Amino acid sequence: MISHDFGAGTDVNYGKTYETNDDTGGSEYNKSIDNTIFSTAATELQIQNVVRLPTGCKSLDNLLDGGIEAGVITHVYGPPGSGKTQLCHTLCVMLPTDYRVIYIDTEGSFRPERIKEIANARGFDSKQILQRILVTKALDIKQLESRIEAACSKIDSDSKIKLLTVDSIIYHYRAECAGRSKLPEKIQRLNKYMHLLLKTASSNAVAVVVTNHQTQSSVDGTYNRVVPLGGNVMSYASKYRIHLDYRRARLDLGPRPPQDDISFAINERGFTDIADD
Ligand code: GTP
Ligand code: MG
Repeated sequence: MISHDFGAGTDVNYGKTYETNDDTGGSEYNKSIDNTIFSTAATELQIQNVVRLPTGCKSLDNLLDGGIEAGVITHVYGPPGSGKTQLCHTLCVMLPTDYRVIYIDTEGSFRPERIKEIANARGFDSKQILQRILVTKALDIKQLESRIEAACSKIDSDSKIKLLTVDSIIYHYRAECAGRSKLPEKIQRLNKYMHLLLKTASSNAVAVVVTNHQTQSSVDGTYNRVVPLGGNVMSYASKYRIHLDYRRARLDLGPRPPQDDISFAINERGFTDIADD
């Protein structure tokens, strides 16, 4: 049986008080407040050495500097059948031993038998992997929002949870807040829950992966550009945005300049490299 460890980086204590070498005086009270609120840029540089979770596809890991970054939101979008759900399933299998994942399924597409197949094909203990995936279904917006709140409070109290996937974040908002008149409500609610997800990711060093649908933006009545739904709300909250289409993945938002896209395959190993096809 193969055991799997974190791909790169070291563990990080987000949300902890940082020690400083401050001997410039001031009351103990002020010092303790300072230590809680401020950290040096040097400490921030260390924090950048974060945990990254393997995706199951080395080419995609390389595109992401080692895998899905913990502490931030990664936003994956693409057309139907592009591989969003398969990526979420493979991430659950690839999560290092001893850690747990919460999977919020809004589209009824979570398949435990697919998890089993991917785990077996990769030589992992599928029983153990199935045990550490906490699945919840959300059948409408209200349920989605309450599941996100429940997941965030569970993450706050369980340090073993290192991954939260929401597949997809947009489905119910798209169906229940359709039309121009509902747009402000949709944006406001999406913003509130993306903000909660980001806060939870950051304060617990948890990787959050949300999937999203795409549409075509229109300029002067001409549809010319594929864009994710949810507009700026999604972009501002996400550190990474991956576009999947025709078995190719492109990082179109990230901390580094745009790079070439990569090819991937989907087979019994789940979301994987072409070489494994
Ligand atoms: P939507 O949820 O409809 O927006 O699509 P998606 O982007 O989530 O696509 P998904 O990941 O569900 O599927 C991507 C592709 O993976 C499909 O077109 C299938 O070709 C393939 N696929 C899905 N399930 C399996 C499976 O169990 N085995 C294999 N080998 N391929 C699968
Ligand atoms: Mg899907």
